[in-house]
Amino acid sequence: SSVELGEHRHYMHKEIFEQPQAVIDTLEGRITQEHVLVSSFGHQAEALFESIERVQIIACGTSYHSGMVARYWFEDIIGMPCQVEVASEYRYRNPVIQNNTLFVTISQSGETADTLAALQQVKKLKSKKNIPTLTICNVAESSLTRESDLTFLTHAGPEIGVASTKAFTTQLVALALLMTSVGKVKKMMSVKRETIIVKGLQKLPGLVKNALAHEDTIKEIAQSFADKQNALFLGRGTMYPIAMEGALKLKEISYIHAEAYPAGELKHGPLALIDENIPVIAIAPHDDLLEKLKSNLQEVKARGGQMIVFEDEMSNISSESGFRVVKTTTNVGRITAPITFNIALQLLSYHVALIKGTDVDQPRNLAKSVTVE
Ligand code: G6P
Repeated sequence: SSVELGEHRHYMHKEIFEQPQAVIDTLEGRITQEHVLVSSFGHQAEALFESIERVQIIACGTSYHSGMVARYWFEDIIGMPCQVEVASEYRYRNPVIQNNTLFVTISQSGETADTLAALQQVKKLKSKKNIPTLTICNVAESSLTRESDLTFLTHAGPEIGVASTKAFTTQLVALALLMTSVGKVKKMMSVKRETIIVKGLQKLPGLVKNALAHEDTIKEIAQSFADKQNALFLGRGTMYPIAMEGALKLKEISYIHAEAYPAGELKHGPLALIDENIPVIAIAPHDDLLEKLKSNLQEVKARGGQMIVFEDEMSNISSESGFRVVKTTTNVGRITAPITFNIALQLLSYHVALIKGTDVDQPRNLAKSVTVE
């Protein structure tokens, strides 16, 4: 069955390699050759999306990071205001939620106590305000699916490893479909743009496969982490939340302290940490922010930092520059790039943890699903 380990040493490794199929399964029946099927969010979805003016996303852990990527997409691609917050903060700070807000929870398990409590709290306001609720969830019969107006199931299949991998990837696919569906219904996106996004998503399983093919190179890079206590992950734009997710993975399974920073914020503190003992991992797609990122990397280099740069085939950060540069992907799409770059970071954490000999699938002190506060 799909929950057997097979040839893999750990569930996490198996789940990382299941991602091309998980993407295929999550797209199945949700797109046509050129269009998104808005009804995959439920038959009321079109009417509810029509009524909204903004999006509020709530989640925890890795699911929060997928929401953070989606915020960039909602505002950049369709111009719809989108906020994202961790559930444990949102539920206790008496947040102001405006009328006509789509309230989105994201969860692998559908049982995370804080996320569920945030949803229940918002539902109490519903008699006075138009706040449709949607959950993006990997478990069909769960508390979040039961309590939400709309459900979109990620078809990642059962995820056993405590550190989330394929669930995250399929959440991003779901959020790309959501942003495109809302954009389409609200006429905030052209038909041409919709088709470009759909074509990009169709290429995603292949792109993920290509990223996985870099495992041997990444395994070798992992060697230089085994004796380190700290690591810094840098990105800009959607690669900032991807850097956060990369840092979280490393913390969770290798117990190395890792932090993510938006690269432009380096000069406001973390530069003071840089020396030859702290590996700095930068995610460098060929996009509008690449030149800015490159100058941030020079700032690190000038202070003796050890840089590992993940780039795509067009970024062209020369290996002669004193950085360790790995081309982990071919693509530069705004939707597909964060998803494919993340694959390399998953593999990096996995191989660092292997070297350190930790319990990869059951890291100390952590639970797969946190159902109590
Ligand atoms: C726990 C897990 C994480 C997960 C988080 C949110 O902390 O260890 O991997 O991201 O809960 O879980 P959810 O099921 O709501 O996505």
